[in-house]
Amino acid sequence: MKIPFGIILLLLLGTVAATVENFDSWNIIDITHPIRNDMPSFDSKKGAGNILNETYGAFTVTGNFRMSTHLGSHVDCPAHIFQEQHERGVTVDSLDLRTLMGPVLVIEVPPDTNITTEVVRSFNISQGVKRVIFKTQNTNRKLMQQQEFAGDYTGFTVDGAQELVKNTEIKFVGIDYMSVARNGDVVAVHQALLGDSRGIIPVENLKLDDVKPGPYTVYCLPLRLLAEAAPVRCILVA
Ligand SMILES: *[C@@H]1O[C@H](CO)[C@@H](O)[C@H](O)[C@H]1NC(C)=O
Ligand SMILES: *[C@@H]1O[C@H](CO)[C@@H](O)[C@H](O)[C@H]1NC(C)=O
Ligand SMILES: *[C@@H]1O[C@H](CO)[C@@H](O)[C@H](O)[C@H]1NC(C)=O
Repeated sequence: MKIPFGIILLLLLGTVAATVENFDSWNIIDITHPIRNDMPSFDSKKGAGNILNETYGAFTVTGNFRMSTHLGSHVDCPAHIFQEQHERGVTVDSLDLRTLMGPVLVIEVPPDTNITTEVVRSFNISQGVKRVIFKTQNTNRKLMQQQEFAGDYTGFTVDGAQELVKNTEIKFVGIDYMSVARNGDVVAVHQALLGDSRGIIPVENLKLDDVKPGPYTVYCLPLRLLAEAAPVRCILVA
């Protein structure tokens, strides 16, 4: 069968138009915390402090910016825990960005528990699910709106992290406060996640106030820092 050239051209144009239209209709939820001087900081009563300041000159205003790689919304790399990786120069720059973009499931953790083995199992996360964001009481408690660090935040227990490593295919673990691990288990949980050969990446301190549980597409791009962690801009597309 011979297909007229005009029809092929119309089909091609139609495809291009559809792509453009898709971008315009994107429903974007920004899940990044704004970076501000009074934002809370890990283990601090007083918050981040003077991390960002802008100076008026004769013709321009210029900003200066200096902060912890773990402040605000950020990704952790294996080099955060494993010094030999850091020495080999395996940093945020070497992350596979495909881990940080794609289909994601937002799951709501019950209010009365940290993320234990039982909690991870209760969600029946299917094989094939690569990215999950855990929305917890941290969001409902509005912990990121208070300047003082809240040590009793919700996060993974060591056994919860091991369950996720062993019995799921998750490579992207999002959470809504400063650490994916509950207080007291910080090193062991990061070891369990970042030490696995699958290359599991914690994406910490996401802003989930406006996010309902369900499937989305996530796009997270970290600053290209030659460091063990980096601030990230993350969005969900509904
Ligand atoms: C802002 O940053 C500049 C450059 O680092 C510094 O000279 C200035 O003192 C800072 N201002 C404040 C209020 O910290
Ligand atoms: C997980 O599976 C169990 C057993 O089939 C079921 O009782 C439970 O409701 C499921 N949980 C979710 C969150 O789907
Ligand atoms: C989670 O663990 C922390 C200790 O790290 C504790 O303070 C907090 O109460 C626990 N949260 C819940 C909901 O059990």
